[in-house]
Order: sequence, then C-alpha cells, then structure tokens
Amino acid sequence: MIKTDLSNLHVDIDWKEYAPKVAAINKMIDEKTGAGNDYLGWAEYPNTYDKEEFARIKKAAAYIQDNFDVLVVCGIGGSYLGARAAIEALNGLHPTNKTEIIYMGQTFAASYVHQVMEYLKGKKFAINVISKSGTTTETAVAFRLLRELLESQIGKEAAAKAIYATTDKEKGALLELAKKYGYERFVLPADVGGRYSVFTAVGLLPMAVAGIDIDEFIAGAKEEKDLLDNPDLNDAYKYAVVRHVLYKKGYAAEMFVSYEPRFVQLGEWWKQLYGESEGKEKTGLLPDSATFTTDLHSLGQFIQEGSPVLFESILNIATPDHDVVVPHDDDNLDGLNYLEGKTLDYVSKKAMEGTLQAHSVTGCVPNIVINLEKMDAKTLGALMYFYMRACAMSAYLNGINPFNQPGVEVYKKNMFHLLGKPGY
Ligand code: PA5
Repeated sequence: MIKTDLSNLHVDIDWKEYAPKVAAINKMIDEKTGAGNDYLGWAEYPNTYDKEEFARIKKAAAYIQDNFDVLVVCGIGGSYLGARAAIEALNGLHPTNKTEIIYMGQTFAASYVHQVMEYLKGKKFAINVISKSGTTTETAVAFRLLRELLESQIGKEAAAKAIYATTDKEKGALLELAKKYGYERFVLPADVGGRYSVFTAVGLLPMAVAGIDIDEFIAGAKEEKDLLDNPDLNDAYKYAVVRHVLYKKGYAAEMFVSYEPRFVQLGEWWKQLYGESEGKEKTGLLPDSATFTTDLHSLGQFIQEGSPVLFESILNIATPDHDVVVPHDDDNLDGLNYLEGKTLDYVSKKAMEGTLQAHSVTGCVPNIVINLEKMDAKTLGALMYFYMRACAMSAYLNGINPFNQPGVEVYKKNMFHLLGKPGY
C-alpha cells in the first residue's frame, strides 16, 4: 500500500550494513526486549484490540451523532493529535458530517478557550475527555470548564450521559471522576503511550463520531502490520534507515511535506511522534512540517538556498478524492488557457516534480517520497501504522528508547512551582 521512493535521495546507503541491524531491532520489537518494551502494546494492537470495546465505541458514536450537534475532544499531545489528524485528513477542512468535532484541552490560551466556550453556549454538545494520566493540567482545567458549562446547560444527570472518558483502566484522577459521576469509560491501555494511541479508543471514538469507518482504519493498520512483520528491509524500515543515515551525515532536521492542506494536522501528529520519541540525550532529528505549494512561497527559499541542515520527506497521494478542471476563458487575459482542460491534481503533480528536481538536484537537499495510492480510512490506518513502526526502528537505530518522554516533565515542574501547586 505504501512505497518509499528513494530516487531523489542522491545519497549512497550501504543496505548490506543495515540489514542485520534492522533485523535485530525488528526482533527486539517483536519480542519486546528493547528499552521501553512495556510500551509496545501498539505494535500488535491491530490484532489484539478489545472487540467488545470496539463495538461500544461504535454504539457511543452513533448515539453522539444522533443526539448532539458538537463533540468536544478534550486532550493534548498524543491524547488528541491522532484523532484530529485522521479527521482532517479524511473529512477535510470544511466537513459536511452532522456532528461537528472541535478541540479543547490542548492549551491554556485564554482567548481560545473563551471563544470555544462562547461557541458552545446554547448548543447540544458532548465531551470526550481523553487523558491517560488523568492529571495533565491543560486537559484537566479545560474539562472542569466544559463540565461546568454542560451541567449549567442541561443539569448534572444529563451531563453525565454526555461525557465520555478515555483513560487508564486502573488508575488516575480522570478514572476516579468518571467512576464517581458514571461517565461511559474507554481505555487507553497501560502498554500504549499517547503518541502511539491512535488505534485505541483515543483515536477511534472521535473518528467514529466524525463518520469515519473505523473498521477500515484498523484493517489498514493490520494489513500494514502483516507486511512490516517481514524483517527484511521493508519500506518503513528503509525510511527509518535513511533518516538514521542522514542524521549521521550531519543533517539536523527532517521536513514532512505534503501538497494538501488537509494534512497539516497529520504533520502535527507526525512531528509529535518523531519529536517525542527521538529527541533525547541531545540527539535526534528536529521534525518540522510544511504544506506545498503554499509554503514554497515562504520556506521554499530557505529549503532551496538556505543552510543545508534539512532533508525532506514528501507524502505523495497518487489519486485525490476529487479533482477540479481548469476552465476555458475566451479572453485568456490571465494567460492560463495553456492549462485549459487540465486538472488541478495534474498541475499539483507537475509542481511536485519540478520541486523535487529543484530541491534535490539544484539545491542538493535529499528527498524521500512516501507514496500512497489514495487517502481513505484504510490507507490512512496503514500509513499511521507505517510511521509508528518506522519511528520505533529509527529511534532504536539511534540507541534511544522511543517510548518515554522524560524531558516533558521539566516545564511542568517549573510551572507547578510557579503556580503554587502543593508539593512543588
Ligand atoms: O505521547 C505522549 O505520551 C504525550 O504526548 C501524552 O499523550 C500527552 O502528554 C497527554 O498525556 P495524558 O494522556 O496523560 O493527558
């Protein structure tokens, strides 16, 4: 389903040197013997997911679609980025599905939160609060505000039926709250970290409410998993090796590029996945993202002629969901009749070809192209699984535990101290 094209890399790689390393790490992932091995539940999740819970997710989603105008997804980092990435990639930026999905809990920004709350006033809304730890402050504060608003609008009893909590099965403040008030609960399994959780209820409930076929999404991940279980240098592992080699050669950053504004959030998800997994012990590539051709009119200059610090990985979708034809104009004052009858996707692909040449040949910026036939629930499931597996491989190649994020705690401790939180 997914092909890694290295023809624009222009860097030699000794694949023979890497094949045994990759096979050994793959075995480590498989047998859960590497660092962070108690967080490898995601790798087999497309096979082992809880079928009873999956059915309950679909039921809850149908209920939310039938009874509410808006679902507020309340979470941060891995507890919201996957769902948002999938919903925007598949439904677009102006979706027509009945239940609108909006986001809170990912920021303290007062103006943003105020605007969301004003927007919700008088609307029939449900909340999916998502937090594995149950103590993440951005999410917890937002949830307190949302809960208060909801209860003031429809009363405590009805509010409890409009709140869905996705959290750890056994512990945490959110679990206690959910038990006390009787919210329907979904589980983020103990052995799955936030940024690897899109195939759990964390991603699936909001996606199902957005009308996405989650059976297909999981099926895509399963298909990709079966492919990647082959320890040979498969396409995901090739991508991981190239990242590692380029990092060793001194490249400091990777730019995730797509030619589709619907994939901006997919880029955000990808950045979190790679940044939090790899950026440790003063090592790792800085993950960055851009949307072309839009950003060719801003970052394009830097990529072409600026400091040679980055390489690009392009997500290329062979066939778009819809296409648009450039019309004829008798006057042709804009000089565009040479494009008459051509589709926008044709134009976009030519822009991509020209850019690949400009960046990789003229600019000497290595380019990797990740090819996907089309973007639908199944191929997106495969793609997200592909990136997750490549990320684990890539971090292990750098000698890094991909599944912890110790650095994230530093700002929290300082903030808690400044806020006067007891114990800090
Ligand atoms: O990937 C991760 O583990 C993090 O980004 C978490 O998802 C994020 O910090 C939110 O944590 P929690 O779900 O505990 O609120």
